[in-house]
Amino acid sequence: MPPPGSVIPSPIQVVRLVRDPIRFFEDRRRRYGPVFRAPVFRIGWFSRPKEVFVATAELAERIYATDAGGGRAGETRRDFMAPAVGEHSLLSLDHEPWQRHRKLLTPPLRAKAIAGYRDEIDRIAAQNISQWPVGRPFALRDRMQEITLEVIMRLVFGITDTQRLDQLRPLLPTLADPGGPYTLMLMPTAARDRILGSRLLRRIRFLPTTRFLAARDAVDTLLYEEIARRRSEPQENTTDVLSRLLAARDDNGRPMTDQELRDELITMLEAGHETTATGLAWTFERLLRNPPVLEKLRAELDTGQETYLDAVIKEGLRTRPVVYSALRLLDAPLQLGGYTVPAGWAVGPAIPLIHHDPVAFPEPHEFRPERFFGDGAAAANKSWMPFGGGRRYCVGAQLALLEMRVIIRQILNQMDLTAEDTEPELPQIRHVTLVPSRLATVTARLRATTTAGTQDQ
Ligand code: HEM
Repeated sequence: MPPPGSVIPSPIQVVRLVRDPIRFFEDRRRRYGPVFRAPVFRIGWFSRPKEVFVATAELAERIYATDAGGGRAGETRRDFMAPAVGEHSLLSLDHEPWQRHRKLLTPPLRAKAIAGYRDEIDRIAAQNISQWPVGRPFALRDRMQEITLEVIMRLVFGITDTQRLDQLRPLLPTLADPGGPYTLMLMPTAARDRILGSRLLRRIRFLPTTRFLAARDAVDTLLYEEIARRRSEPQENTTDVLSRLLAARDDNGRPMTDQELRDELITMLEAGHETTATGLAWTFERLLRNPPVLEKLRAELDTGQETYLDAVIKEGLRTRPVVYSALRLLDAPLQLGGYTVPAGWAVGPAIPLIHHDPVAFPEPHEFRPERFFGDGAAAANKSWMPFGGGRRYCVGAQLALLEMRVIIRQILNQMDLTAEDTEPELPQIRHVTLVPSRLATVTARLRATTTAGTQDQ
């Protein structure tokens, strides 16, 4: 028997999901139990495969286990990612091509490989924070995006030339902006491809698709130039991700092609820029509403330790997971909690539900980093999955965590933040992520012990 789900037409369900995603998932679990059907992602507009979500870590493990052969994560993302990331993206590949790319991308993004990025991330963050307005509210997530974008351009793309950085900076967000790909995401693939391919429509400047294509062309030109330049003048001792990918060889001794490199650079931008910025925004949204935790964190950071900081980051990503699911398209039927999910259906963890499972996380709605220490830590760690799981586990997780550690430390070093409105910000859907409804609005004041920052009142 396939899992149960609502008979309400899917467009109405999608409206409910968008209006209040957490309530939507909680409601489904209450009505149907830990395995349920719900239309959430757009995969095949007209022949939409059924989507099934699970609410416990044990059931999620069964889904991740399909990565060994029977579950295709890439295909669930291919349609909506293709216009930006192209055909050679780790996000949307499956089978052997995915394995080849995964083996090439994993080493440059390992914790050891990126450990040396700390100082540069710190410099980027310090510089950005010193420009923040003081004494008036602003959206923290926007500033976090500026910082994570800079990290991608300098440490992932390895661009150092100021002129090139200035050219790329305004272009890159358009590739991930709702005005661009999001409009495209919502269209049936055939219609979207017709629109993107239409010369006539490209002449209409105000169309989001025209803006998107113009930005994509300009970014591609800059990236292909950069790749060509680096191939012709290889630098010694460069540690950025692109340099390492240029030097990498697959099992057959083949290097990555220019197009593969371009697609993977954009993939890392798409997957790693907004997500990390949102994770940072949520961490502060939670910290500012839990002053004792913030106080304890400050006290620890002043001693130079980072153990509690790591637990704060984990707890932030637990209570407010940035990505709410990671689907697999099934090649073969899968048994889940007494139901049989047929081949051809998509299955994924409902991450917000798993992260609020009271068995793994007692009093799940409390922001309590201590749960990752001591007695309950094993259960908490097993059910913690903000970066997905299985073989498709986020390849950029270590970079994201390093960025979060360094940026949070630098913010707390320079600023005292307050939230004018102490009501929690609610999670809202944006692409495949959940962002704070007011983008983590805060007011910054210079911390008494520092002198950095500009007065802007
Ligand atoms: C807080 C920040 C981040 C979060 C919450 C996050 C979350 C995720 C999740 C949930 C997945 C899907 C995993 C699955 O299917 O099981 C994923 C995949 C991926 N992420 Fe991240 N991510 C973050 C940052 C990054 C960064 C910084 C990069 C790269 C620089 C990155 C690159 C990728 C890529 C390429 C994949 C596809 C992996 C594959 O299919 O093999 N992510 N991420």
